[in-house]
Formats: sequence, C-alpha cells, structure tokens
Amino acid sequence: MRFENKTIVVTGAGSGIGKAAVMRFASEGATVVLVGRTEAKLIAVKESVQEVYQKEAYLFPTDVTKEEEVEKLANYLEKNFGEIDILVNNAGASVHSKIFETTLEQWENVQKVNLTSVFLIAKHLAPLMKNENLKEDRSIVNVASLSGHKPGAHIPHYSSAKAGLINFTRALSLELAPFGIRVNSVSPGFVETPLTEKGLQNDRFVKAIERSTALKRVGKPEEIANIICFAASSEASYMTGSDLLVDGGWLVV
Ligand SMILES: NC(=O)c1ccc[n+]([C@@H]2O[C@H](COP(=O)([O-])OP(=O)(O)OC[C@H]3O[C@@H](n4cnc5c(N)ncnc54)[C@H](OP(=O)(O)O)[C@@H]3O)[C@@H](O)[C@H]2O)c1
Repeated sequence: MRFENKTIVVTGAGSGIGKAAVMRFASEGATVVLVGRTEAKLIAVKESVQEVYQKEAYLFPTDVTKEEEVEKLANYLEKNFGEIDILVNNAGASVHSKIFETTLEQWENVQKVNLTSVFLIAKHLAPLMKNENLKEDRSIVNVASLSGHKPGAHIPHYSSAKAGLINFTRALSLELAPFGIRVNSVSPGFVETPLTEKGLQNDRFVKAIERSTALKRVGKPEEIANIICFAASSEASYMTGSDLLVDGGWLVV
C-alpha cells in the first residue's frame, strides 16, 4: 500500500483521468480530497470510493482558475488536514478553434484552466507540503499533454498552455526541491474521457488516431492514473522536473 496515511489532493477529480487517479490512490490506502467545480460529480466519486474501498473521501468544490476560491481550498485543507503529502493538478479543458478564428476570451480561458490554475494551486497549496527536515517523500504531479510536445490540430491555445505547463513544472521543481517536494508532469496522448468523448464518436477520427499511434488504440484513464500514481509515489523518489509521456507511441510513428 504505497499511499497509506497519505493525504492527497486531486483537481478535476469528478471524471476521466482525475477520477481514475482518485480510485487508484484510494485502492492503496490514501485519504483523498476531491476538487472540481461540479459538486454532484465529486459526490459520485466520493461514493464510489466508499463503496469500492470502504474509505472516506473528502470534497471541496473549487474553480481552480479563481484565486479567492483556491485560497479557500488552502484554508480548508490546513484546518482539516494540516499538511498535504501529494498534489495532482489534473483539472483541464479545451475548445477547438483555428488560430485566426480564436477569440481573445477563448485563448485566455484555455490558458487559465490549463496553466494559470496550476500556478495558483502551487502558490497556495505547496506551503502545506513543505517538509524542511526532508522526512517525507512529497510530490506534485501536473497533468500536461502530448499536445504540449507536438501541437494538436485546432487546439493552439491548449497546446501552448500544456507546453507552458511542462516548463512550469521544471521551474517549480527547482523552487521546491529544497523543501523536499518533487514536481513532475505526466503527458497523456488520446484517452477515452468526457474531454474526448465527442471526437471519439467519429469513426474517421478514431481510425486516424489508430493510424497515428504505435499501439493502434486510444488509452484508458486507468493507464494514465497508473503513471500519475507512480510519479506521485516514493518509487519515483529520485525523479523531479521530468515529464512522463504516455502516448501509446504517438511521437514515434
Ligand atoms: N483525455 C485525453 O485524451 C487527454 C489527453 C491529454 C491530456 N489530458 C488532460 O488530462 C486532464 C484530465 O482530463 P480528462 O481527459 O480526464 O477530461 P475530463 O473528464 O473533462 O476532466 C477534466 C476535469 O477538470 C475539471 N475542471 C475543468 N475546469 C475546471 C476548473 N476551472 N476548476 C476546477 N476543475 C475544473 C472538470 O470538472 P468540472 O467541469 O466539474 O469542474 C473535469 O472533471 C486534463 O488536464 C486534460 O487536459 C487529457
């Protein structure tokens, strides 16, 4: 049980990759705090944790793009848990638009949810993780994307934000290393989640993904959660400032 007695915060915990990571952490003994905007989705995941693992999970609905809400989250965590062991910045979203058809508002919203939010969460939650005597292996995992390595079609804002997130991860890893906090990112390729649900209903799109992926298939949220949990765990105790690409071999095709 890698996460026994660990307090873990997961953003975007109500669906997809975040939900799969919550279930995996809980299966290995963690106390998980679920964060996202839609309370009903967080309650459903909390109930799944209780039903499957007979473990209590906690939730705190938060819009991670809003600093005042992130500050309230930090206060709630400090009051109720004191310290955090692991933080997974997984919340993210995108829209499809070509560069010259993208509005400034669309551009800024995509930056806010995929990049600015991680800055805000790190700024307000990392102080709850610092362990100056370096007793614990503590870590932050940011969920970036294959698009941060190679821009996807008609997602210029998202691709830029995720590339920024991969580099922000490196910057954060340097600042937090003296406090015993490792920081890494995980970059998924195409994964079956609510984010990709619409696209994956289109057979031509699915065939194109299969052609472009060495493993010839779309990934499952659990296959990303496994890597998030590895990066978060003390098995990865000598890894910081790294990005783990989990793309089924997209970049080698
Ligand atoms: N699926 C893929 O193929 C893929 C590929 C590469 C990277 N990723 C990344 O993986 C992460 C998880 O995505 P997913 O595929 O699992 O999609 P998803 O099911 O849509 O999960 C995203 C979660 O983020 C939450 N969220 C969105 N905006 C938020 C905000 N402002 N504040 C708080 N929570 C917010 C959403 O819940 P609410 O709307 O209720 O807040 C949702 O539960 C994202 O960072 C995504 O960019 C996914």
